[in-house]
This record gives sequence, C-alpha cells and structure tokens, in this order.
Amino acid sequence: MSGARQVDVLRLGLGALFIIAFAITALVVMPYATLKDVPPPSGLKAYTEQQLRGRQIYIANGCIYCHSQQPRDPSIAPDQARGWGRPSVPADYVIDKPHLLGTMRTGPDLFNIAVRQPSEAWHLGHLYQPRAYLEGSIMPAYPFLFEERTGPAQPGETVVSLPPAYAKPGVRIVPTPEAIDLVAYLLALDRSYPVLPAEARR
Ligand code: HEC
Repeated sequence: MSGARQVDVLRLGLGALFIIAFAITALVVMPYATLKDVPPPSGLKAYTEQQLRGRQIYIANGCIYCHSQQPRDPSIAPDQARGWGRPSVPADYVIDKPHLLGTMRTGPDLFNIAVRQPSEAWHLGHLYQPRAYLEGSIMPAYPFLFEERTGPAQPGETVVSLPPAYAKPGVRIVPTPEAIDLVAYLLALDRSYPVLPAEARR
C-alpha cells in the first residue's frame, strides 16, 4: 500500500471511531449521567414478587408489541384526554428494569390501566377472549393462560365469568398462575400519584 493510501485508511478509521464515540456519548453516557440519580416519586410503590412474575409474563407474551406505557404531553398528543393519565416523567420508571415504554399503539397505553379498569375478573375474561368484551377487538386471545375444567368446582378455585354469549355450558375456565400473576401486574399499573414540579422537570 502506498503511503498516501495508508493515510486515507487511517483517516477513515479515525473518522468512524469518532462518530461511534460521539453517538455513544450523546445516546448512552449523557442520558445516563442526567437520569441516574432521579429519586422515585413518594407515591410510587415497589412491585411485589407476584407483580414481578406477571411482568415477565407480559414481556414473554409480547404485550409490548401493541401497548405502550408512556402517556405523552398534551402538546404532543391528546393522551390525557384519552383517559391514559398525566404525562409520564423519568422518575416514574426508576423501578422498571427493563422499562416497557413500547413504541407501538395498536392497543391503548397501559401505564395507568389499573385506574380505568381495576377489576381482576374483567382482566382475566378479557385476556381469555378480548372479543367477549369488545366486539371486533383485534387483540389476540390468550387461552393458553387458562385451563378448561369440568366436574365439581374445587375449593379456592378462581373461575372466569365470561359474558353469557361466550360461556361454555358445563365448562369452567380457570386461570393458570401465570394469568393470575399477569393480572396482578396489570393491577399495579397505577401512576395516578402526583409528581412534584421538580420531578417533572427532570
Ligand atoms: C396485536 C396487538 C395486541 C397485543 C399483542 C396485545 N394487545 Fe391488548 N389490546 C389490543 C387492542 C387493539 C386493544 C383494544 C381493544 C380491546 O380492548 O380488546 C387492547 C386492549 C387491551 C386492554 C384494555 C385496555 C383499555 O384501555 O381498556 C388491556 C388491559 C390489554 N389489552 C392487555 C394486554 C396484555 C396484558 C397483552 C399481552 C398478554 C396484550 N394486551 C397484547 C391489542 C393488543
């Protein structure tokens, strides 16, 4: 390789390294430095063991591909008017590892789903068959999170009560522990606590 050519290759390599270093600084190092000490809002409750298990089921079943968890500011989108809650702030996410912000909104934002739908029975039935609750819903059904049982009811068994048109005579739809944990997680999604102006600014 000629001397001039070697210098070109060196320049190209250094240029590429500079761009990568710049991108890492701007996209990883600076956001981390800005946000690492954000304190949790006083109203934010830590997840229980059960809710954390449910969170894993949420991840495993791809709920994030259709549901965001980030109500936006009224200047950007009418999320508050849609009933999805105040705009979220970084402090809301300090206990979320990994965060589940999501990018797609095929379905509604779920950041505050427990506020507008606090019923465990509704969530169980809706997961078993969304179309039983909303005609024409395009949300997939999750029947594999439930068992169909016949015979006498067992003590302590939770039975899904479906709208009459979807109930199967003589068959009980019983949620698996995964379904119960998932709904426990959904019922933890309540960020209606106030955030202080100082927390919102960050
Ligand atoms: C293919 C996209 C899609 C996937 C995947 C999906 N959903 Fe949905 N979801 C929707 C749509 C569309 C709606 C609105 C219609 C309805 O209520 O059924 C919805 C509604 C909901 C609602 C009610 C929201 C409200 O504001 O009333 C909840 C709760 C919910 N989904 C939870 C889940 C969970 C938990 C999972 C994963 C197990 C999941 N969804 C997976 C599309 C999806």
